[in-house]
Amino acid sequence: MPFPLSRPARMAVLASGRGSNLQALLTAFPPGDPLGSVVLVISNRATAGALAIAEAHGVAARYIPCGRDRQGFEQAAAQALDQAGIDLICLAGFMRLLSPAFVERYAGRILNIHPSLLPVFPGLNAQQQALAAGVSVSGCTVHWVDAGVDSGPIVLQRQVPVIPDDTVETLSDRILNEEHRLYPEAVRLVLQGGIP
Ligand code: GAR
Repeated sequence: MPFPLSRPARMAVLASGRGSNLQALLTAFPPGDPLGSVVLVISNRATAGALAIAEAHGVAARYIPCGRDRQGFEQAAAQALDQAGIDLICLAGFMRLLSPAFVERYAGRILNIHPSLLPVFPGLNAQQQALAAGVSVSGCTVHWVDAGVDSGPIVLQRQVPVIPDDTVETLSDRILNEEHRLYPEAVRLVLQGGIP
């Protein structure tokens, strides 16, 4: 376990879409924060909002395509991560699975946020899965990434109520609101060395 560090942590965020969790991390860990800050954003989608958010904050933003060539993506991503001296990788709406080799290379240094109370509803469309199952409580989870799908050790979870007339959109929005608090909280705990 590399944390706590004796210097500010250098964090990278991998994101495929909108980037609202990236925004929450940028706000929580501004440049100069003694605990750490986000210094690199990588996206597998050229049009991802996350890349625009990174650029607006003066954070290095890299688009690395990831079609069927996952190995090529991971090689380029690893090169960028290593060149930037990244200590902690935060997946935030990154919608590709990472290979066991990549996960092993950064073992204990990759976090993910997922919109359900894992281990229930892993994988895609977690909010839709929660509605289909008829649960009255769902939520979000920050966990370490291992070689499985949303299966790594849990760092923090937060419950969110499911309301009878919820749609995927209303439930997703309520969970997302909580994600924006949970992810910075979990990252803070990790950087402080409070998580085994
Ligand atoms: C978030 O709800 C995140 O939990 C989810 O994608 C959304 C990204 O939103 N991630 C997954 O479903 C991963 N399996 P954002 O781009 O606004 O942060």
